[in-house]
Amino acid sequence: MARTILVTGGAGYIGSHTVVSLIEHGFDVVIADDLSNSSPKAVAAVAKLTGKEVTLVEVDLTEEFQVRKLFANYPIEAVVHFAGLKAVGESVEQPLRYYQVNLGSAMNVLKTMARHDVWDFVFSSSATVYGDPEVLPIPEGAATGPTNPYGRTKLMIEDICRDLAASDKRWRIGLLRYFNPVGAHPSGEIGEDPQGHPNNLVPFVMQVAVGRRDKVQVFGDDYNTADGTGVRDYIHVVDLALGHLAALDNLTAGCEEFNLGTGSGASVLEVIQATAKASGKEIPYEIVARRAGDIATSLADPSRANSQLEWRADRNLEVMIADAWRWQEKNPYGFGERPADSN
Ligand code: UD1
Repeated sequence: MARTILVTGGAGYIGSHTVVSLIEHGFDVVIADDLSNSSPKAVAAVAKLTGKEVTLVEVDLTEEFQVRKLFANYPIEAVVHFAGLKAVGESVEQPLRYYQVNLGSAMNVLKTMARHDVWDFVFSSSATVYGDPEVLPIPEGAATGPTNPYGRTKLMIEDICRDLAASDKRWRIGLLRYFNPVGAHPSGEIGEDPQGHPNNLVPFVMQVAVGRRDKVQVFGDDYNTADGTGVRDYIHVVDLALGHLAALDNLTAGCEEFNLGTGSGASVLEVIQATAKASGKEIPYEIVARRAGDIATSLADPSRANSQLEWRADRNLEVMIADAWRWQEKNPYGFGERPADSN
């Protein structure tokens, strides 16, 4: 019988792509999502893409009884935990909410897993746990030091997992530290759909390309990089999704961190150029001041995941941007409707 995987936050951007990969590889999936930053339309699109019914349960994971009900109702054998709040600026303004939701949800899920004798846990962590890195590319053994409450919730959940694994040898936990996920499923049916003003570069550039916004603001061109703009290790969301499968397949006793990135970087200007090329549109931009808290360069050393998970991210920037553009062009307003007051 197929293994049933609980995917929390499975209606979201990375979650929905991971659910597609899981179903394509023969897993049964139960999605738990509160739909606070995601759409049931993403789940409908996943069902259409895979030709399989997908179970979506609306759950508030901060309510322990709701988590218990979930485990009582479905034969869950492993958990991929994406659910959480993820906006850096918002986390600075509302730290308690971030600690409560992100830590509370993770603890309820872990506690309930143990009660039901489920020990396989894959966690959606982030390269943000490294803060301003001391070494490039960044290996998993590098010092951690997140610079905002959102990043600290990721590191705290990692700490909880390391403590749990030390306390009980049955746990098998993979902490996946994502670099910069971008792109979309090649069908253009699912993709990133940020609410309001996109904080991240690629969704913003896509909204300029599709005509929703006038120009990109480039946050600083005086960094110590080849063209002066920030360099990031962008990773195609489909490669990232496949990284979760590789992690599930290769979990071993204990708790281990894995960088999921390509190991090579692109600058802000390179992302803008790639988008102009893929879309055939001009992408106006202006150089503005640096964004507070930004670093010059972030690059993964993905060799641990390459060897231990037998996984590699091989889709390049051109493919990432072409796929992101296909999604954006097909769905200029994401899963939502064009707002009445938009011009
Ligand atoms: C940001 C978060 C990080 C989070 C990650 C999720 C901050 C400080 N960091 O990382 O915690 O885990 O998203 O993917 O918010 N840029 C522009 N103009 C824009 C937007 C971004 O020039 O409108 C630049 C940035 O300065 C940076 C690069 O583009 O050099 C990438 O930015 P972004 O997509 O926000 O990712 P990170 O800053 O790496």
